[in-house]
Amino acid sequence: MKKNIILIGFMGVGKGTTARAYAKMYGVFNIDTDDLIESKENQKVKEIFNEYGEKYFRSLEQDCADWIEESVDDSFISCGGGFYKVENLKKLGKVVLLDASYEWIYNRLSTAENSKAKLKKRPLFSEPKKAKKLYKERAKAYKKLADFVINVEDKDIESIIADINKKLYI
Ligand code: S3P
Repeated sequence: MKKNIILIGFMGVGKGTTARAYAKMYGVFNIDTDDLIESKENQKVKEIFNEYGEKYFRSLEQDCADWIEESVDDSFISCGGGFYKVENLKKLGKVVLLDASYEWIYNRLSTAENSKAKLKKRPLFSEPKKAKKLYKERAKAYKKLADFVINVEDKDIESIIADINKKLYI
């Protein structure tokens, strides 16, 4: 069984922020599936969506999951919001879900300092109504796949990290 920590959850819930803080705190490597795809394709996620469509992007996520299964261990891996759909997710490591209500996530994104950029780089967040529908569609699937669920609403980063460790190691 792999010792990776696989961080899943909806767009904007704070996976990247949590993963970077975790990596810094424990001196482990964090890899992010969107970053891996962008560096492999030499293109931003948004451009990949615009140029080739969502289906192609999903196939890149599957390639990425296959590479992680083959080659990555002992790492902290933050995933794009739709990465949970890859067929081998459970083989990649312990799956941790960061969870919060849609309203909290929307508020977090729209009040962030660089809010415009955060919303702009996420093609599936361009229409809030559609994003909310997507959130509802995914909520159950996320929970079903997760080994642990961490509620992040109104928690600072230190408590989120402490909650992850508690679930993982106790
Ligand atoms: C997506 C989430 C994004 C990115 C792409 C699709 C999704 O990642 O992979 O825009 O389907 O939820 P973040 O969750 O980091 O925003």
